[in-house]
Formats: sequence, structure tokens, C-alpha cells
Amino acid sequence: MSQSESQHAESHNIENMLHEERLFPVPKAFKPQVSFKSEEEYLAAWNHAKDAPAEFWGQIAKENLVWETPFETVMQGDMPETKWFQGGKLNASVQCVDKHIGTARQNKAAIIWEGEPGDVRVLRYQDLYREVCKFANVLKTLGVQMGDRVTIYMPMVPELVIATLACARIGATHSIIFGGFSADAIADRNNDAKAKLIITADAGWRRGKEVSLKKTVDESLAKAVTVEKVVVYRRTGCDVEMVPDRDYWWHELMAKAQAECEPTPLDSEHPLFILYTSGSTGKPKGVLHSTAGYCLGAAMTSKWVFDIADTDTYWCTADVGWITGHSYVVYGPLSQGASILMYEGAPNWPDEGRFWQLIEKYRVSIFYTAPTAIRSFMKSGDQWPQQYDLSSLRLLGTVGEPINPKAWMWYHTIIGGERCPIVDTWWQTETGGIMLSPLPGVTATKPGSCTKPLPGVVPAIMSEEGEPLGDNEGGLLVMTQPWPHMLRTLYGDHERFKETYFSKIPGLYFAGDGARRDQDGYFWILGRVDDVLNVSGHRLSTMEVESALVSHPSVAEAAVVGFPHDLKGEGICCFVTVNTSTANPGEDLKKELINHVRKQIGALATPDQVRFAAALPKTRSGKIMRRLLRDIAAGKETIGDTTTLEDYNVVAKLRTEDE
Ligand code: WTA
Repeated sequence: MSQSESQHAESHNIENMLHEERLFPVPKAFKPQVSFKSEEEYLAAWNHAKDAPAEFWGQIAKENLVWETPFETVMQGDMPETKWFQGGKLNASVQCVDKHIGTARQNKAAIIWEGEPGDVRVLRYQDLYREVCKFANVLKTLGVQMGDRVTIYMPMVPELVIATLACARIGATHSIIFGGFSADAIADRNNDAKAKLIITADAGWRRGKEVSLKKTVDESLAKAVTVEKVVVYRRTGCDVEMVPDRDYWWHELMAKAQAECEPTPLDSEHPLFILYTSGSTGKPKGVLHSTAGYCLGAAMTSKWVFDIADTDTYWCTADVGWITGHSYVVYGPLSQGASILMYEGAPNWPDEGRFWQLIEKYRVSIFYTAPTAIRSFMKSGDQWPQQYDLSSLRLLGTVGEPINPKAWMWYHTIIGGERCPIVDTWWQTETGGIMLSPLPGVTATKPGSCTKPLPGVVPAIMSEEGEPLGDNEGGLLVMTQPWPHMLRTLYGDHERFKETYFSKIPGLYFAGDGARRDQDGYFWILGRVDDVLNVSGHRLSTMEVESALVSHPSVAEAAVVGFPHDLKGEGICCFVTVNTSTANPGEDLKKELINHVRKQIGALATPDQVRFAAALPKTRSGKIMRRLLRDIAAGKETIGDTTTLEDYNVVAKLRTEDE
């Protein structure tokens, strides 16, 4: 991207390199508690949902959601404008807390929380109910009304869940921003959502250090004009500046709050939350989810895929700032009355055994994490998990990127003791919940495959031209039927929503992944086909990083590509040409650019390589040769002298023909 140019397009061949033939039957020791019991049961449900979706979803929505007013119709209109459960009124917080009050679960642990320093708190469902009601009242007294947007920027503490559900309770649309994002990223998101209030904490603990959040929020507020008030939860006790009549302490407000708060009955399609995610342009997209469909999806997938029973201790390690945390820390498991483990800190603090120690300590039975974490545990050695008793585990899951078979095998043997099914779950921020995944007591697994669609999910593999492809042909993964938990729009930009997801193959949902289906009907995800990177399971657009780079005064032009990275899955490589006024760019400028990107986006976007180029290689028509840059970044293409400014045009000349 140059400072003037911001668009490029390039077609990709979808290659498929993985050839994995091993098939693992469902471990005999695994007995489904609440999920499907047999292949026949699953197939019957899948066919029912495919042939009569309204009947299928209508029935389970009646049985699985608590309605204030029953819905009149199940689904209306074609994708992407399908409206679900029209006429119905409900509240998302009721599905997660009120539902369990007055039942045997009211004294059950809802959240078992451990802070990084080792402090422990347990909130029973009754406690969670009380705190959610109180904080909902706090929001009301601060002037938050139904339909307002509230931003949440917090560490992984129970108050994050409480704040989320309190917004839902009064019908305020929450926008949670992951705690690793920068002040600029917060400001952009607040402005886009026109957020009225932001909830944060003084700081959180990460690897023994305090990561200040309030300070970052303060910095963001200089650029975010719509935010009127800030609520600050005291977590570490560090010094923060409080601005009178703008900033309020959580504990002071809660001390005065009423304990009862009636949930606001909301329309099925009421916007529950916005979650910003990266697309193939520089501007993050505000994915919007609505109430009934999303809650139903989170609930059913938690039941089907994680088989959460009352006896389980369930741990999803994702931060609530990502969709995985929304659906599988908050809305899904709490709707099932689960006891969830929530941990504040880093997996390798104070040592590489922390996660395994937590599993032993709390007798975790269901464990859901990301391949990037598994690879890093694998690297630190078997001696860490082997020090702990992991026999409480009965089910393992992964999400975020394809899991390479080697990591899958390690997870299966070292963590799962060969007795736990692994659910490799494919889904996206946009899909709201899991779409393709093994069912734990039913589906035989193949390492690296997310196996088959869940009931209600009807995928297809298509060519760029929209032709259905055959077995083992790599193509675009699309959804041919609407599902209740799909995104409803991109906040404030419905045209972009239609264009991004429903125009590539008109009328069908496409969100950017390539895949193939094998001869047994198993799906294999081949990665993104657009300019979205998947770094440690987190989505970043190459263009976002390019925009950050070209906003630096020394940079003339930048191109960013991914390259295979042992731990992160994909690393970030930046090719940069500098302005004529910048002579001899060197290590100092590299460091400065890396910091600049971190400041603009956040630590998760830290470049792994910055390479200075005399010029970026371009085709005769002026397009940057990204495929060549990808090969260079991956070390597949060698270039002569790389002392200072790399000259790619020599290699480029040899390649111009085939780009
Ligand atoms: C990738 C995370 C392979 C995929 C829930 C998708 C996966 C993107 C898997 C969505 C998986 C997620 N196997 N790839 N099991 N799960 N992905 O929105 O490229 O952060 O499009 O949602 O992650 O990332 P997002």
C-alpha cells in the first residue's frame, strides 16, 4: 500500500497440502451426557434442520430459550435479510442467570475465577444474578438506556462477565474490546459505535506485571467524542487519574445500587452486541449480533459440541474480548448452567505448567483452547503437563485456526491421555457460534479436520464462479442456508455487509475461507483466501498493518504478508520502502516501526519481520507482487545481497509472467 493507494486485488490458488488419512474412533470411555448419542440421532437432526429449518429451529427455540412473549414466526425472508423469531420478546441475561434461580443450580458455582497472582473467587449463580442486577441498575443511573452502545475494555475478571450481562439486561448493546488493543483502536471503535459509556479497570495482571487499562482509555478519550462516562473497576490498586463527573469507581456505584432489576423484554432481533473484527480492508468491521438467534446458537452449540453437564467444570481459555469468549465463556456455558473456570493471566506464568496446574486444582473436565497455545505448550516440553493430574479431563476442544496434525496428536496423547475426544471447531465472529465440528460421542475424528456441519448448517464448496466442486477439490467454503446466530449487519454499514459476505457467490454466505471436503464428507479448512492474516488465532488484515506503517513519516510504501510461523501459525512480515529524506534505514527505524504498529493497533499486531526494500516488486500493471513477497518472507525465494536495502526487482523480473 502506498500513501495514496489503498486497494489491490489478487486471486489466489487454493492449494491443499495436507494429506492426513488417520481416523480416530470416538474413545470408548466417552459417554455423551446431554449431546447426541449416536450418528443416527445426529443425522436425523441434521436432515430435519436442512429440510424443514423453521420447524427444527422453532421447536428448539421454544424448548431452550425463556420467552417473555412467544414468537409468531420462526424465520422470515431470504439470506442475508432473514429475521428470526419475530414477535417474540426475551432477554439474554435471563437465559444465563435468571433461568437458574429457584432451581437446584442457584447455589452452584457459575464462575470459578483465579487471578494471575493466585487470588480466587467463586460466584454462585445467585451471586452472579445479584451482581448483574446491581450493575444493570448502575448503568441506568448513569443514564444508559435501551439501544445505547456501551464499550467494555477489561481484564479477565468476573466483573467483565457481570458488565456484559448487565448491558444485555437493560438492552444496551455491548461492544467489548480485547484488553490488548491500543488507545487508537479503542477510539476508532468507540467512534464507529458512538458509544456512550466505557467500562474499564485500573489495570490487569499479565506475566507478573500490571497492564494499565485506564490510562489507555484516558488516551483514547481524547479522540472519542461520544463517550460521556467511564466506570473503573479496581483490580490491581494502581494509581489512576479520575476525572470528576466523568469517571466513577465501580465499587462506589455498586455500594449504592439496588439489588433487584427487572430484565427489559427485548425484541428477538434487538442488537445484543457489536464485536469489531478485521476484514480485508484497513477499517475494522463492527459485526452485529441480535438477541434470540445468537442466544439460541450459543446455547445449542454448547450443548451439542461441549456436552456440558451439571457435573462438569468447563474451561474455555479465550478472552471475553474475542467472539470465542462471548459465545463460550459467557452466553453459551452460562445458558447451560455450567460451572466455568475463568483465569486472568498468561498460560506461562509463573511457569509453563500454569494451565495444567489449574486443570488439576479445579478438576476441569472440558477444556477448550487454541492451536497456537497447544503448539507453544508442546514446545515447552511434556515434563510440564506430566507433573499434574489431568485425569479429570473428558473432552478437549480447539478453535481459531487449523490445528496441524502433530499438535493434534500431542493434545490427544499428552493432554487427553487418548481418552478424550477432540472437537476441532470451525466458526467465525460472523457465524456467532460453532458451525463445523465433531460431536464428541458421535464423530470419528481425523487430525486437522473440523469434520462435519452441525444441525442447521448447510455448507458447500464452490469455485470462484459459484460452481459446486467435487470431493477433495479445494474451493470457497459457503453457507447455503441461513442460521439463527448469523451476523445481522456490519454496524452502520449494511451495504458493506451485503458486499462482504453475500456478493462473492450471490445469495450465499462467504466469509473468506477456502476448504475441501474429502471422500467421507469431512471438511478441511485451507485458510483464508483474502488478505486476512491469522496470527495466533487472531484476525488481522494485512491492510490494517499497511495503513499503520504508511502513517509513519519515514515510510513511503509498505506491503504486509503472512508467513508460516511455528508458534503463531502465521507471522507478520512487512516490506517497507522509505521516503527519500530517510537515508540508510537501519535497526533503529525497524524498532520504531514495530512500536509504531503496536501503538496504532495493539501488541497483537507486532510485526515479526520488517524488511527495507529499494522498491517493492510490481507487475507491469503496477500491482504489488504479493505472492513473491510471501515466498520471500517464508524463505522460499532467495535474494542476493540483503545487507541494507533489498532489491527484489531481480527476482521480480523472473516472475512477472506468472503473477
Ligand atoms: C479461522 C474465531 C481452521 C478461519 C472463532 C476463520 C479456523 C477465522 C478454525 C475466524 C478451525 C477458526 N480450523 N480455521 N477450527 N476456527 N478458524 O472471527 O480462518 O476470530 O475464518 O473467529 O479463524 O476467526 P474469528
